[in-house]
Amino acid sequence: MSGYQQTSQNLYWWQRGVVYQIYPRSFKDTTGNGTGDLQGVIDKLDYLNDGSTELTTSVTPDSLGVDAIWLSPFHPSPMADFGYDVADYCDVDPLFGDLATFDWLVAEAHRRGIKIIIDYVPNHTSDQHPWFIESRRSQDNPKRNWYIWRDPTPLPSSPRKRGEPEGGPPNNWGSFFGGPAWTLDEATGQYYLHQFVKEQPELNWRNPEVRQAMMDVLRFWLERDVDGFRMDVVGLLIKDAELRDNPPNPDADPNLSPNDLFGRQLHIYNQDQDEVHEIIRDFRRLLDEYGDRCGIGEVWFELPRWIKYYGEKGEGLHLPFNFRLMRQPWQAQAMRRSVDELEAALPAFAWPNYVLGSHDFPRLASRLGGQAQARVAAMMLLTLRGTPTLYYGDELGIENGVIPPEKIQDPQGINLGTERTRDVCRTPMQWDSSPNAGFSTAEPWLPVSDDYATRNVAVQSADPTSILNLYRRLLWYRRQSPALYGGSYQPLDVDDDCFVYLRQAGDERRLIVLNFIGQARQVSIPGEEGSRVAISTHLDREGEESLSKLELRPHEGVIIELM
Ligand code: NOJ
Repeated sequence: MSGYQQTSQNLYWWQRGVVYQIYPRSFKDTTGNGTGDLQGVIDKLDYLNDGSTELTTSVTPDSLGVDAIWLSPFHPSPMADFGYDVADYCDVDPLFGDLATFDWLVAEAHRRGIKIIIDYVPNHTSDQHPWFIESRRSQDNPKRNWYIWRDPTPLPSSPRKRGEPEGGPPNNWGSFFGGPAWTLDEATGQYYLHQFVKEQPELNWRNPEVRQAMMDVLRFWLERDVDGFRMDVVGLLIKDAELRDNPPNPDADPNLSPNDLFGRQLHIYNQDQDEVHEIIRDFRRLLDEYGDRCGIGEVWFELPRWIKYYGEKGEGLHLPFNFRLMRQPWQAQAMRRSVDELEAALPAFAWPNYVLGSHDFPRLASRLGGQAQARVAAMMLLTLRGTPTLYYGDELGIENGVIPPEKIQDPQGINLGTERTRDVCRTPMQWDSSPNAGFSTAEPWLPVSDDYATRNVAVQSADPTSILNLYRRLLWYRRQSPALYGGSYQPLDVDDDCFVYLRQAGDERRLIVLNFIGQARQVSIPGEEGSRVAISTHLDREGEESLSKLELRPHEGVIIELM
């Protein structure tokens, strides 16, 4: 695999392609119950990629042209964390359809050349999973050791008063969603570990039987022809063998909710233990047995630790998700630094990737402060070297939904404060101007955003300069440009407020100039004869332009073809 950094030849689909994340609850409801389903995804496949191979660069295509879709969980689940609490890994929740619908979805996607990536949630199950129901029956149940159970820690020796508990949690770990990471099971007198809600008990990956069972889950879906997995919090699978206390975080935000024990700690012992890589190697070996499949991991750690998830020689994940750009302020040089650090750190075998939005974060357009910035972000995401992941609705510039407090559904928002709710980025997809944005005939599970009548696929398709048409143009342009999907990356020092880089494959050279500020900039790139603007984020400018005095309007990005 070496050498693909500079050549655009022989790339795998997960290198060359663009991934589009679908949150199935919110994409398209076909049963009239207010919740999206798999049939809804099938019905909208042509929107994502109609399989047409006729590539045009100057005409706006009808479909987006993404190469793969990642589906957030659709398995049977009590929905304590909206599907990230799985009660059966090998089935489909009736809310979303059934296995036959899933198979149909795979077939229809493949017919259009779209790959299917599904979520794999290996760290925890639902407390309603039969394994956990067994496990909690008694301390000597054969499945007891499938989860992480510990005796209470004796409380300080002062005499216990009547009614006081006999002991506290086994250590000081906090849950991501607030409160302690341990819940006492009164019936059997032990605590179990859950770093999310208490309905998400954590599997014991030190137990070979668990490993076997969870590898079988991967096999089950590989046999159904899925092309890859997005592995949920994969860096959490192994915890410190002694479950030691985490140290306090001296830099913790003093305004954290009192309930946020997690935010007050340094996460030394609850995650990212070296032994996790052995498990990831097993995942990779299995994927490789099936050929051209892809393992993506949700991995948040700092660069030196994060990079290890590729494996020492590329025997780990194909793509540990790179969320770093999401944490940068909207400044050209901050973005450039983050990209350059990544480029410098990646070994030759490791392929970069970028994520700007997900079901866990405020909407891109809201985070960046406006639609104009969101358009520049789209151009950046789709022109950097590496695999981009788009989040459904970002192609319309959907902003954070306004969720009345009584309608908040997300446990993070319920436990840690309304401002932390992830519901804001999970509102229904906006298809057209009809009631409920064409998402459903019933009241949707989360309110549709107020702007749906003007911000939707139908309206934006008819507007030649909409952000949707910008995404379409960028995606199709990228698709036929070896420099963009596979070429080298070289940043240029041009102007502090602009992020400027050259992408090149063979003789094909594309210059990207992104103005990050709300004022016009004039930049000069010496030594270039012959250049043509191919796409502006404003979608109103094309043709020959001199690079000795290139004018950029406020928040404008351009792709320039160099002769
Ligand atoms: C990460 C997922 O992206 C998030 O939505 C979920 O709540 C947690 N993992 C727990 O599975």
